[in-house]
Amino acid sequence: MKILLFGKNGQLGWELQRSLAPLGDLVALDRFEQHYCGDLRNPSGVAETVQAVRPDIIVNAAAYTAVDRAESDSELANTVNAVVPGALAEEAKRCGAWLVHYSTDYVFDGSGDRPWRENDQVAPLNVYGQTKLAGEQAIQASDCRHLIFRTSWVYAARGNNFAKTMLRLAQERQQLSVINDQIGTPTGAELLADVSAHAIRQALKSPELAGVYHLTAGGETSWYDYAHLVFDYARQAGLELKTDKQSVAAIPTSAYQTPAKRPLNSRLNTEKLQAAFDLELPAWQLGVERMLSELYGK
Ligand SMILES: NC(=O)c1ccc[n+]([C@@H]2O[C@H](COP(=O)([O-])OP(=O)(O)OC[C@H]3O[C@@H](n4cnc5c(N)ncnc54)[C@H](OP(=O)(O)O)[C@@H]3O)[C@@H](O)[C@H]2O)c1
Repeated sequence: MKILLFGKNGQLGWELQRSLAPLGDLVALDRFEQHYCGDLRNPSGVAETVQAVRPDIIVNAAAYTAVDRAESDSELANTVNAVVPGALAEEAKRCGAWLVHYSTDYVFDGSGDRPWRENDQVAPLNVYGQTKLAGEQAIQASDCRHLIFRTSWVYAARGNNFAKTMLRLAQERQQLSVINDQIGTPTGAELLADVSAHAIRQALKSPELAGVYHLTAGGETSWYDYAHLVFDYARQAGLELKTDKQSVAAIPTSAYQTPAKRPLNSRLNTEKLQAAFDLELPAWQLGVERMLSELYGK
């Protein structure tokens, strides 16, 4: 079994290098690769890579993920998030490979408070969401065998993440403001990678499992409550914070202006995935506490 992974050094790509390794011969690329083109700005280059490697499975963990920057850089975001995934899908179809790809809750408009199901109406609020949706559609239109996992609020011990930013700010400042009206589920790159490997194994045996799935940890929270879990953990671990419990203000999204509009309701319903792949997704707190424990001990 040959697996071709794009985006090997992102939060998810790093964990996929670990979780995909036992499945077979893994060729893992980032954009700076010498031997093969792993640069998702280059549709013909990545197509040539697929032709040269002739994988059984292509896993695309690379993406243009700078949500605010995408508003003024839409052409590049569209190439990386839509044009090249479409080119990968065409190549997958041609060589009979599976394509595993990742998308986002940002394909939805964030209205209501019900967790979004896979077939709900899509209506992205920002350029990043539009390009990710276009990527999904290009893959579906190619008719290659695919798994598309829509996820949300991804974090990993490696790289920057919300928990680390909050802890840094709480060590520097006495007052903090955190948004409390965006609701979603923090999802560890480790969990995404492990579930991906499990799903790939099953899909290889049962090709009818191909399709779009929502994949997040269990439960839901706001950024505000997520921050409090992180601060509580840090205090217990003996980290000194300048911000105390009372000095964290809960603010609405409308009070924090960003170039890209963000959805309020990022909840994803994961019943389809859990039933199809016979899985139970663990509560989000478990993964966040595990990451904090790796970073700060305790
Ligand atoms: N992060 C989230 O909260 C979130 C939420 C929902 C869905 N998702 C989706 O989940 C997937 C994984 O995201 P992640 O959190 O792992 O993102 P990430 O940490 O930002 O990783 C993205 C990777 O893509 C690479 N990349 C960007 N442009 C590239 C190019 N032109 N050629 C090759 N590689 C390129 C980046 O490389 P450089 O570091 O060199 O730029 C980085 O290694 C993506 O499809 C994303 O859209 C993420």
